Amino acid sequence: MKNIVILISGGGSNMAAIVKAAQREAWADRLGAKVAAVISNKADAKGLVFAKEQGITTAALDHKAFASREAFDAELAALIDRYDQADAPVLVVLAGFMRILTPGFVDRYAGRLVNIHPSLLPAFTGLHTHQRAIDAGCKFAGVTVHQVTSVLDEGQILAQAVVPVLPTDTADTLAARVLTQEHLIYPRAIADLLQK
Ligand code: GAR
Repeated sequence: MKNIVILISGGGSNMAAIVKAAQREAWADRLGAKVAAVISNKADAKGLVFAKEQGITTAALDHKAFASREAFDAELAALIDRYDQADAPVLVVLAGFMRILTPGFVDRYAGRLVNIHPSLLPAFTGLHTHQRAIDAGCKFAGVTVHQVTSVLDEGQILAQAVVPVLPTDTADTLAARVLTQEHLIYPRAIADLLQK
């Protein structure tokens, strides 16, 4: 059994999409994988409520309580490593986790740490991707699932989806259109990775 640990910071709609796909598609039987825990750096992250309702172990680790990024990441890794066993290696899934991770953390989970980013990478790394796509006059925008390296929003691309940018779009309407695609491609990309 592989253990999936999902890190969130907010609404957790991508996490919920992954949890629902795992249930619907019987990942435990078909892929030997289960969502073992959901961890947030914010105690009030809405996604934690959904995860608890699904009977998934949750934890909140407030980054503000730590003196440095390294100290926070060390504690986070200690939490995650509870789910990293020889017969059940962990896959760490960033799903709207709005913290930059230290190179030490990234190296520790190299090849089994994935992220979803709301742009067509390598365009628009960082924040405010939808407004920047609109401002640049893009006719298409989208979302990327990728392996995480120590360079922000870099790493092997695992999946992408494209949506049109409409003349009437605001950052919010474009974000909503992209999010619909996120919920489709993230579970699929994770299932593909688990089958490798
Ligand atoms: C998603 O749009 C995700 O792509 C984005 O945050 C949102 C989280 O939504 N992630 C990033 O911007 C990471 N740089 P969710 O909490 O409802 O899944």
